[in-house]
Amino acid sequence: MAQRKRYLFVCVNRRPDGTPKGSCAARGALEVHDKLKSMLKKRGLAELQARACTSSCLDTCWVGPAIAVEPDNFMYGRVTEADLEEIVSGLESGQRVERLVLQPSDYVEPKELKKLEG
Ligand code: FES
Repeated sequence: MAQRKRYLFVCVNRRPDGTPKGSCAARGALEVHDKLKSMLKKRGLAELQARACTSSCLDTCWVGPAIAVEPDNFMYGRVTEADLEEIVSGLESGQRVERLVLQPSDYVEPKELKKLEG
């Protein structure tokens, strides 16, 4: 296997139902990973351009499903299956999908959640 240009780490961590932070798996991340992997293969990108991997918690649960894109060093958040066409097209053209890129404030856990967790 060749080293790919990019690795997309899709958080598929699952927490028990009712946990204040929630989790990416509870928001559909497993389906997102499966579909992303399949799209990369169908488009001929899987061998050299990009590999979709699963990941444990990326510590941005409140904006999940989250995907870390490396080595570009940015993250997508709130990703749904409907966003994947745009993400994959962006991998082909070398452009990221700006509306999904997490901003500095997205990395900070909301205070309301911290209080609920105690
Ligand atoms: S559960 Fe996915 S970032 Fe924490």
